[in-house]
Amino acid sequence: MTTGPAAGTATLDAQVERVRATFRERTGRDPDGVWVAPGRVNLIGEHTDYNDGFVLPVAIDRQVAVAAGRRSDDRLTAVSHQAGEPVDVGLDAIGPGGPGGWAAYTTGVAWVLRELGVSVGGTDLVFDGNVPGGAGLSSSAALECATAVALDELWDGRLDRQALALAGQRAENEVVGAPVGAMDQMASMLGRRDHALFLDTRSMEAEQIPAGLEGAGLTLVVIDTRAPHANADGAYAERRSSCEEAARAMGVAALRDVTPEQLDAARDRLGGHLYRRARHVVTENARVLEAVDLLRRGDVGRLGPLLAASHASLRDDYEVSSRELDVAVDGALECGAVGARMTGAGFGGSALALVPDGLVDAVLATVPEAFARAGLPAPDPFVVVVGDGARRLA
Ligand code: GLA
Repeated sequence: MTTGPAAGTATLDAQVERVRATFRERTGRDPDGVWVAPGRVNLIGEHTDYNDGFVLPVAIDRQVAVAAGRRSDDRLTAVSHQAGEPVDVGLDAIGPGGPGGWAAYTTGVAWVLRELGVSVGGTDLVFDGNVPGGAGLSSSAALECATAVALDELWDGRLDRQALALAGQRAENEVVGAPVGAMDQMASMLGRRDHALFLDTRSMEAEQIPAGLEGAGLTLVVIDTRAPHANADGAYAERRSSCEEAARAMGVAALRDVTPEQLDAARDRLGGHLYRRARHVVTENARVLEAVDLLRRGDVGRLGPLLAASHASLRDDYEVSSRELDVAVDGALECGAVGARMTGAGFGGSALALVPDGLVDAVLATVPEAFARAGLPAPDPFVVVVGDGARRLA
């Protein structure tokens, strides 16, 4: 294996050191603290979270670390070891219409917290992340959640974890302008080592389910296709409004409320396009519940058929897969993965594979060969460990 818990820990320590050192260099003082928030892999339940449905993500050992310190004036400064322009903005100039690009995610969260009544004052923030961007692993949610936990604690907001997660989602919706659901932020905020988060996105009830990977001798492998996802934002918004249209046509608040029988009865009314979009959501919700049953029984090794059905549904009915994702999934399965599917919004990004421990090296070596045979640029496959959610580290 090329990475694992030990490598993950070493990287995290290095990130903490890096943000502390940069903070000192830039401000001439020590930060008040260092916080961290992870990316996520969604095991199953894709494109269900904006339909009031079910999701089952895990937090991973790839994260954004932030060193943060209070200032005595009302300026918010932010710099990242990965992202572009440093930010230096007055607190009265953040929020919708405020700084754009990467800065919108972090200043957006500061704005939402202030809207919620947290008296966030001037703050310096230094970020370092190792969640690959644009890879469907929620680097945005990690940035938002790291900001949220840091500012909440620095300014004594005492919001609970769900409120902080929803603050991240609201920043992305209202400041960044992306109509995402709440799965990624909830996973980043509430994730727990070796557990999957079973989340009902209507009630926001969340339950930690033991993932049982270690006991089953399985390793979670991510295959980052590195494929640029052209027009992903527009396509995501289009899927979301199709779902809303289908729900309206069936007279329900959200597709969560539709049974397979109701869906079939509405087939003609919906027309082929909306029917297939809705069918993905209805069947995917049912698959999440089945997956949760399997995990509860300690049967993670039997997730394969559900992952396969999810991938097929995303590819054929929801049309958000890509050639790269299909090659990644097929390549991993051919190599002996017990299950694989695209994860995240799709249109490029990453696939996940559940791989017997003894076959991990083979999968890491063979999937890139499958890409080469298909004439595709090399992907980046790597092992992830199911880790803890957002927390203070120093
Ligand atoms: C993105 C969004 C999530 C969710 C997934 C698809 O990651 O941020 O809210 O909709 O896509 O399941």
